Amino acid sequence: MTSPDTSSPIDPTSTDAWAELEAHNLEIEGSLREWFDTDSGRAEHFTHDAADLHVDLSKNLVLPRTMELLLQLAREVGVQEHRDAMFAGAHINSTEDRAVLHTALRRPAGASPALEVDGQKIDEDVQETLRRVYDFARSVRSGQWTGVTGKRIETVVNIGIGGSDLGPVMIYEALKPLAQDGLEARFLSNIDPTDAYATTKDLDPETTLVIVASKTFTTLETLTNARLVRQWLLSGLRENAGLTVEQEAEAIAKHFVAVSTALDKVEAFGIDPANAFGFWDWVGGRYSVDSAIGTVLATVLGPEVFEELLAGFHAMDEHFRTAPAEQNVPLLMGLLNVWNVNFLEAETHAVLPYSQYLHRFPAYLQQLTMESNGKAVRWDGSLATTETGEVFWGEPGTNGQHAFYQLIHQGTRVIPADFIAFATPNHALVDGEQDVHELFLANFFAQTKALAFGKTAEEVRAEGTEGALVAAREFSGDRPTTSIMAPKLTPAVLGQLVALYEHITFVQGVVWGINSFDQWGVELGKQLAKGLAGAVAGDEQAIAAEDASTAALIRYYQEHRK
Ligand code: F6P
Repeated sequence: MTSPDTSSPIDPTSTDAWAELEAHNLEIEGSLREWFDTDSGRAEHFTHDAADLHVDLSKNLVLPRTMELLLQLAREVGVQEHRDAMFAGAHINSTEDRAVLHTALRRPAGASPALEVDGQKIDEDVQETLRRVYDFARSVRSGQWTGVTGKRIETVVNIGIGGSDLGPVMIYEALKPLAQDGLEARFLSNIDPTDAYATTKDLDPETTLVIVASKTFTTLETLTNARLVRQWLLSGLRENAGLTVEQEAEAIAKHFVAVSTALDKVEAFGIDPANAFGFWDWVGGRYSVDSAIGTVLATVLGPEVFEELLAGFHAMDEHFRTAPAEQNVPLLMGLLNVWNVNFLEAETHAVLPYSQYLHRFPAYLQQLTMESNGKAVRWDGSLATTETGEVFWGEPGTNGQHAFYQLIHQGTRVIPADFIAFATPNHALVDGEQDVHELFLANFFAQTKALAFGKTAEEVRAEGTEGALVAAREFSGDRPTTSIMAPKLTPAVLGQLVALYEHITFVQGVVWGINSFDQWGVELGKQLAKGLAGAVAGDEQAIAAEDASTAALIRYYQEHRK
């Protein structure tokens, strides 16, 4: 289990399935209109349930044969073996020689057989950390944990970036109505000083608790913001509550906790290790929201909500691990993405939640999918043999309908889109006689219908349109979509959705031969930013040593800075 998987990935383009898919793609005939007309079982055939998610794949540009060949491709490149290796703790993150065990974070207490990897009793450590996080969360929620002046905590500020921010923000926004009365979360991520200013400007230091969340505890943005907020907190306490220098350490202990895999660095920063929650290098940043990185969520939303989330993640893990391939939704969706990218030449993928509470879900998915699969090198160091990582993007419907859907409906590019909706609204409102959620859902249903079936020139003419306007009003249809529905946006359903996309991303990575769990591509920019400090501060020699474009931009900054 301990050796990195450096064996050469199987080149997907060398498989029989790939050759057959290429031939099949050339031969495939008809349209979604025709396929639905001639196959009354199509919707049923392509619809599957995964835990509480009901997923209709039938409006994708595939025939049953396409899916058979994609499943054959999965077998030929060994998706199932890689999945099992991941769950068992093999070091599939080969460039960092690490296991990939985010699925262990959501195994229920007492899961059997117990998971032990590289000598670590994983389940015991996970449960012990959860217990500490929940104890902390309960003491803040009950008012037992107070600020240094004895006041109850009203705001929890999570300072983190990337995986230490996007998951917590997305889930907080999605489940905000479940926050305890009188307790709110805020998130500070950007090194733009505006962010630290705006996050703290109307807060009372006496009632603010800060969570510094950083896997490595070396991230420039997070440590800078943590120092800024420490400064803000101490000076506020000095001014408002007469805090003395002798009381500063106690103030930090009452107002700062940390989440990290690097507890030595937490201590060096000045945070008491007793107030730190750990996790492990086998949890990737973008896969860490269900680790102690979720402390802000357990605190503001409550341990019970966090438990429900974890149960949701686990339900999807179990589906991915055990459902037969033909009904395995993450596997099928991952393979469909491969079909769309490599055979239909899609370059982007839209994710369109019909839920305002999911407004940060596309942003969260951008890190999950693009930091995972935005790579041109395979896990043995050889070049990828196909296009990889598509661009993920999106916004909630119906807002997107009035912004960018035009391009999805009538543009020249194929843009596969996932539509997500919930049967029961979080807040049922009526407008006169009209149930507004029904109006909302009518839009959800209408969009995938329009994209799939379009509107022919004859249909446009039959409405009285003539001449050049006919073409402008025509809709080609055959624009691929997946519809994901669930009974309601609950913590469990949200956990299932996140785990679904984690596993979709994994499947694509395995097919392409990519290590989806490293992120070397973010390093160069970080390194160069450090090296530019002197030039940005005005050192003429350093500016002159830069390339002409960068030097001119820095000079512009120097001239215009007030
Ligand atoms: O720079 C990318 C990255 O390493 C992400 O993968 C990670 O989620 C983020 O930075 C934050 O890292 P950390 O949690 O170590 O501060």
